[in-house]
Amino acid sequence: MTKAKQITNICCIGAGYVGGPTMAVIAQKCPYIKVTVVDVNEQRIADWNDTDLNKLPIYEPGLADVVAEARGRNLFFSTDVDEAINEAQMIFISVNTPTKTYGVGKGMAADLKYIELCARQIAKVSKDDKIIVEKSTLPVRTAEALSTILNSTGNGVNFDILSSPEFLAEGTAISDLHKPDRILIGGEETEKGQDAIEALVAVYENWVPRENIITTRVWSSELSKLTANAFLAQRVSSINAISALCEKTGADVDEISRAIGADSRIGAKFLKASVGFGGSCFQKDILNLVYLCRQFNLPEVADYWEQVIKMNDYQKHRFAKNIIDSLFNTVSGKKIAFLGWAFKKDTNDTRESAAIYVADELLQDRAEIHIYDPKVTEEQIFSDLKSVCHPEGSEATKDLLKNVIIHTDPYSAMQSAHAIAILTEWDEFKTYNWQKVYEEMLKPAFVFDGRNIVDKKQLTEIGFEVYNIGKGLN
Ligand code: NAD
Ligand code: UGA
Repeated sequence: MTKAKQITNICCIGAGYVGGPTMAVIAQKCPYIKVTVVDVNEQRIADWNDTDLNKLPIYEPGLADVVAEARGRNLFFSTDVDEAINEAQMIFISVNTPTKTYGVGKGMAADLKYIELCARQIAKVSKDDKIIVEKSTLPVRTAEALSTILNSTGNGVNFDILSSPEFLAEGTAISDLHKPDRILIGGEETEKGQDAIEALVAVYENWVPRENIITTRVWSSELSKLTANAFLAQRVSSINAISALCEKTGADVDEISRAIGADSRIGAKFLKASVGFGGSCFQKDILNLVYLCRQFNLPEVADYWEQVIKMNDYQKHRFAKNIIDSLFNTVSGKKIAFLGWAFKKDTNDTRESAAIYVADELLQDRAEIHIYDPKVTEEQIFSDLKSVCHPEGSEATKDLLKNVIIHTDPYSAMQSAHAIAILTEWDEFKTYNWQKVYEEMLKPAFVFDGRNIVDKKQLTEIGFEVYNIGKGLN
């Protein structure tokens, strides 16, 4: 093996939830590497460059400190994609790979149009050899397609393609990046491929112990990412399935999680029953996996994984239906306060949040929904609702959205409400003055805790009717 090239210039295409934090940490930990993050979204880049660190486009604990340390030193955010590609020895592709909304594979397959555009741009602009790193989550064998595009320019430039999927979770991105369970790098088995792997290993070795860096073939790396997300989501759907049975039998799902999680073969994490998982990736990645299995004529495997999504849809629907059933079979004209809109705590990301789907079902039953979330903007909430309460711009949608009111004070959201629904597990919800909330609500005062975070005993003593996930009747 020849000595791996030392990387001193990195470009990352895509300044989103992955590209921004990941590159900020690489720049922080490798001050000798110039890291430029580029994006076609001018506003996003302007926000990353804002001197007011509260205006960064992403809310993530600890992120502002990392950006403050590296930005302007060796971390740069820019819209000049061509220049950054041209200068870099290593290019990370961190663009979005949403579920296709049209044509072949609609609603299932990953839409790779942004990936393809990146490859074409890199091929057009590059004047010297480069290592291309797939950071986005991609279907297995995407590297092959990338290679075909990159190597068809005939201009003599050489590209090595690596797969290095990102495993960070939102809300804990900075600690996940600082202390990853593992870094995964897949590359070709040729000498050139191994050199490219080593070049990336050397970047991560600045702060990640070598034994935590796993190197594999490209296809294994690509498929490991989809598999990891499928396994994590499967655990949530499994415990949520059991939560439904708990509610019928009087067993307590949190006690079950504790009991089974103590078995080291099962493990304690990802066993928190909830209103349903959200986030930009679990659903899209499982749908992508299901699509791939069908494409490779493995219908039984496809059906197996699809059930994880069906169970999640069932859980969200079950929660909404329970609110309607408990409020005497209709929520029409009733004020329902939503605590939380983000798909989990400590993030302003709302993609695929369970709250959106629960709100939609209640709005269809003519509820009046009052929403409070400590980090999500009014604009974002309406944009989410419009994408679900289709069709966009129709009179019906406009009518439904008239029944949505956003609050910046949780107490005003809950005042005179018939019921409170807790959709996100923000810590502050635990510390509210629940006695005061009770006194100001209509009676009977219901709390539907979709995250099992408030103290059911305390609230019941105050006088609330409390419904938890997987805990049976009061
Ligand atoms: P995102 O939507 O937040 O960011 C993607 C960015 O890429 C956008 O700002 C978009 O403008 C930009 N972009 C798209 N095409 C471009 C182009 N041709 N040139 C320049 N910029 C372009 O997405 P994300 O959440 O950061 O996810 C990115 C990828 O990482 C996805 O494949 C996702 O599955 C994966 N992933 C996400 C997470 C997560 O927590 N969000 C974690 C691990 C992996
Ligand atoms: C998830 C994975 O955890 C990351 O490893 C992965 O990199 C990322 O997807 C991705 O590919 O995008 P993320 O979606 O940010 O990260 O957050 P998670 O902590 O996994 O939570 C996902 C959803 O599951 C949230 O709605 C959360 O509330 C829910 N969840 C999680 C539960 O309901 N119960 C649990 O026990 C755990």
